[in-house]
Parts: sequence; structure tokens; C-alpha cells
Amino acid sequence: MQQRTIGGRAVSAIGLGGMPMSIEGRPDRDRSIATIHAAVDAGVTLIDTADAYHLHADEVGHNEELIAEALRSYGGDTSGVLVATKGGHLRPGDGSWTKDGRPEYLKEAVKASAKRLGVEAIGLYQFHRPDPNVPYGDSVGAIRDLLDDGVIEMAGISNANPDQIRQAQDILGGRLVSVQNQFSPRFRSSQPELELCAELGIAFLPWSPLGGISLARSGELGAEYSAFLEVAEAHGVSPFQVTLAWELALAPVVVPIPGSSRPASITDSAAAAELQLTDDEVARLSADAA
Ligand SMILES: NC(=O)c1ccc[n+]([C@@H]2O[C@H](COP(=O)([O-])OP(=O)(O)OC[C@H]3O[C@@H](n4cnc5c(N)ncnc54)[C@H](OP(=O)(O)O)[C@@H]3O)[C@@H](O)[C@H]2O)c1
Repeated sequence: MQQRTIGGRAVSAIGLGGMPMSIEGRPDRDRSIATIHAAVDAGVTLIDTADAYHLHADEVGHNEELIAEALRSYGGDTSGVLVATKGGHLRPGDGSWTKDGRPEYLKEAVKASAKRLGVEAIGLYQFHRPDPNVPYGDSVGAIRDLLDDGVIEMAGISNANPDQIRQAQDILGGRLVSVQNQFSPRFRSSQPELELCAELGIAFLPWSPLGGISLARSGELGAEYSAFLEVAEAHGVSPFQVTLAWELALAPVVVPIPGSSRPASITDSAAAAELQLTDDEVARLSADAA
């Protein structure tokens, strides 16, 4: 599979998003394990998760545990797989998502994540979302301390605007390796952050790169943007692959993390890393999605 880099570490150009395996509409455990195994089979070496990917209040870290279990039971070498988790979001169990960006909270949450993942140090830890009740610099300062103390190997942020990206890069002393923001053909307002990451050489991980779980599962993907369907037909591939290949073509720092809860969907998505779009096709898709 085509490789890209996060903080100098090579990862597959297409990652796996773990969220659909742990929130509303999730499959049973066996299908989730099979999905993660299929991802590794396909050459995926980046798996995105979060402690908040769970349904009920008493199962914090459901997705982290699934990933750890799947990597343990894979039966082959998984040492090259980078598991990227996040902290700073919580799910109280009523379907809502709350925030806690206090340094003391993040420093406890990271320990619990490491324990669930079965690692001494977390490969990539991402501050999930700015907390309006906590100065951003305080939250990112906690991430810097975790990096300095070797609790995490690499630091990332998520749901950040350009000012926050620059602020985080400053606080982390130039060690910010990734930004994870929502980005897809139908949601392009993170284009400035994508461009800033390309300029700074920071990995940009589009979340909900296929427009989100509901749209992707509806079978309607591409329906609103006919160019995606036409290019897919011309290449004999799914519109999912065209969407991901288009995102990859936007900048070398882009590493999409399509969610999956079925082996077939991540296997198909992973193949997008090898799909070559022409410059004309990329321009057409960009114009269609604009
Ligand atoms: N940082 C944040 O705040 C944030 C927020 C949201 C998401 N995320 C991360 O981003 C990841 C991706 O976002 P997402 O899961 O919300 O949305 P998404 O990737 O846009 O869509 C996920 C859905 O797409 C379907 N799918 C994927 N590839 C497919 C293919 N090739 N063919 C057919 N269907 C396909 C999957 O269906 P099946 O379930 O049927 O396999 C899955 O449920 C998440 O898993 C999570 O790790 C981060």
C-alpha cells in the first residue's frame, strides 16, 4: 500500500476509523475483530480510535479495547501498526458528547487509554476537541507534558482552526505531527486547515472522509456530486474509493481515516491508495465538490 508519514513515521495512506464499531449501529464483537483484521490484511498501518468511542457510560474505551484485542489475536506481526487515540471528549451514555480539556483530566485519561491499548507509551495521542471552559493553551500544555514525560510518542490535535494549529505547534515546540478535522466532498470548510498542514508539513487526517456513517451507509454517496459517480464508473471502482483517492490527491500530508464496521468496506477503502486519478479528474472532482 502507498505510504505517507506522520511525524516521520511511515503509515498506510489510508487508515481505519474505529468509531462505527463502537457507537450507535455498531456490529457484534466478532464482526468488529474481523474488520480490524481485514484492515491489517489490506496493509492498513494506521488505526484511529478514542476513549470516547463507546455507547454506554460504563464502557469507556470500548473501541480501544476492541483494537487491542484484534491486534493481539491477529496472528501476524502488527508491530508496524500505529494506533492513534484521543482524549478530551466524553460520552455520558445518553447519546451526547461532552468535553473535558482540563490538564488533570487529560493526564488521567491518557493513562487509562494506554492500559486498555496494552502499551507503555501511546503512539499518537490527539487532543480530541477544544473545551470552551479551558484555555486551549492549557489543554495543549498537558499534551506537551505527556510528550516530554514519554507517556506519548507523538502528539496531535483534532477539530482545530488555523490559529489553534499554530498555537499548538508553538506550545509543542514544533512537535505537532497531525491535525484531524472533518473533511469530505460535502464538508470542505477545513480546506484552510488542510492547506496550513500542507505548508507546515503536518499530517492532515480527514475525519468522516466519506461524509459520515449515515451518508456512507445510505448508499447515496456521490449522488449529490455526479462527478464522483462518473469517475468511479470510468475506473470500475466504488465512489468511496474515488472520494478517498481525491482527498489523497489534494496534498501529500493527507491521510484519510474512513470508518468501517465490515471487512468488505475497509478492504474496498484501502484500495483507494492505489487508485490513480488524472489531474483532470482531480480538478473535476474538486470543482464538483466546491
Ligand atoms: N476527531 C473527531 O472529532 C472525529 C469525529 C468523527 C469521526 N472521527 C474519526 O473518523 C473516522 C471516520 O469517520 P466516520 O466513521 O464518522 O465516517 P466515514 O468514514 O465518512 O463513513 C464511515 C462509514 O462508511 C462506510 N464505508 C467506509 N468505506 C466504505 C466502502 N469502501 N464501501 C462502502 N461503505 C464504506 C462504513 O460502513 P460500514 O459501517 O457498513 O462498514 C462506515 O460506517 C471515525 O471512524 C473516527 O475514527 C473523528
